[in-house]
Amino acid sequence: MNFDFIFFDEIKSTNDFAKEKKIKSPTVIMARVQSGGRGRMGRSFISEEGGLYFSAVLPTGYLSCSLSLCTAAAAVAVRRVLFEKTGKPLCIKWVNDILLDGKKVCGILSETVTENGYPESVIVGIGVNLIEPKDGFAPEIRHRAGAIDYFTDTEGAKELAFAISEELSGLVRCSDGEIISLYREHLAFVGENITAADYKSGEVHSGKIVSVSEAGELLLKTENGDVLLSSGEILY
Ligand code: BTN
Repeated sequence: MNFDFIFFDEIKSTNDFAKEKKIKSPTVIMARVQSGGRGRMGRSFISEEGGLYFSAVLPTGYLSCSLSLCTAAAAVAVRRVLFEKTGKPLCIKWVNDILLDGKKVCGILSETVTENGYPESVIVGIGVNLIEPKDGFAPEIRHRAGAIDYFTDTEGAKELAFAISEELSGLVRCSDGEIISLYREHLAFVGENITAADYKSGEVHSGKIVSVSEAGELLLKTENGDVLLSSGEILY
């Protein structure tokens, strides 16, 4: 994909900008700081100086994979590029987080934009903690947030956003099976006992992670049998 690049020192949210401006062509929108960064489930995503915040707009005509796998493709792309840069043992926590030493260093928020009922583009928003903010992480996230300790200036951050977007644009050209097999290679907690929230049913399940299905669902082995979570979150 030939991405246009839009840069801000500060903006509310790069995902919101892409939506509000109804951007229809491949575009990367990046900001050094976001005043209203958003995460999944309506949460806020603290986006202070020292992070990498950008959204890649992927028009659906460029995608070969299912729209629902754009987040998985982005997780693979982020992990790959950051591993190349740092050599650090990053892994993917289902469904949209990248972890380093058990701490979240990146979150991904994919949003589908429709027109007349048809999906037109997917906005993939990516936030990476490159370095710890100067006063440390906010108290409410301090216990679970980490940084990859990769200091770079604005030019370096732009290059990183571009490299991840390029990697992502290659991955979304792959089949669902190919994306999921790459995703599985770095999936965290496989074989370990975890507790996860199922956003569809509202239930909470505890069990061993077996794998992720080709549709990106988390497969858990619980005392009551196998459970597939299509939308949810690993709590602990
Ligand atoms: C999550 O962890 O729940 C997802 C966080 C996604 C944050 C990124 S930062 C760039 C883009 N703009 C936003 O407002 N959110 C995403």
